[in-house]
Amino acid sequence: MTVHFIGAGPGAPDLLTLRGRDLIAACPVCLYAGSLVPEAVLGHCPEGAEVVNTAPMDLDAIVARMAEAHEAGQDVARLHSGDLSVWSAMGEQVRRLQALGIPYTVTPGVPSFSAAAAALGQELTLPGLGQSVVLTRTQGRASAMPAGETLENFGRTGATLALHLSVGNLPKVVAELVPHYGADCPVAVVYRASWPDERVIRTTLVRLEADIDAGISRTALILVGPALAAEGFAESRLYAADYDRRYRPQTAESPRSEWRHGDD
Ligand SMILES: C[S@@+](CC[C@H](N)C(=O)[O-])C[C@H]1O[C@@H](n2cnc3c(N)ncnc32)[C@H](O)[C@@H]1O
Repeated sequence: MTVHFIGAGPGAPDLLTLRGRDLIAACPVCLYAGSLVPEAVLGHCPEGAEVVNTAPMDLDAIVARMAEAHEAGQDVARLHSGDLSVWSAMGEQVRRLQALGIPYTVTPGVPSFSAAAAALGQELTLPGLGQSVVLTRTQGRASAMPAGETLENFGRTGATLALHLSVGNLPKVVAELVPHYGADCPVAVVYRASWPDERVIRTTLVRLEADIDAGISRTALILVGPALAAEGFAESRLYAADYDRRYRPQTAESPRSEWRHGDD
């Protein structure tokens, strides 16, 4: 048997990959991180599947349940919110499975920062305003931050920041980012992107604390940076009429076949 780690997406049951959906439908056991994966996603489980919310379980108990399924010859769908490459706790589970010789696969999911950008209806990188997105978080009770990974350091770059797990740390976010982005820097907070009760709050760094109400205490993403304004940016050269590129050569002499830097 195999443990299939599946990125369950931001919440909407149709924001899963087809592979993820099909794997869930094929597994007789489903372990899901119930603190973030909504029940609607469990609708993809087959009739009669054993569905276990792992939110109240510790790592030993979760791995023991996987090992039990392995012994019984049952495949397991292991669901975590968004994508598995960030803050999924997949790493520690994989390490245990490897030690036990239990095979596993990984199926990516739609990360919450993508779903948040979609809720805003905009791009997070815009010419001249921001060409990098930093996926980060502030320190919480469960995880210490490595020394160099401070908001101050990331803020110095001026990149668009996607702050996860941080809606409970607003004073710190504001205090550390205002010196780099300015008090009027645009901010968007997206609560439960893609859920039926999704909310979007557009504000600025200086107004952030006042504009967030008590209803937004978790499952929210804070996006910060000049690109959030989505105005005053240049058009990219990529689609400019006179831009000579491999797929739209301007003259007979234009190089067609060789790859050129930035010509995607
Ligand atoms: C433990 S992390 C999981 C991140 C997830 N693996 C991903 O790919 O987005 C949980 C944090 O992700 C963000 N998050 C997850 N789902 C979200 C959603 N639907 N809307 C807004 N933020 C979400 C919140 O910042 C939340 O505190």
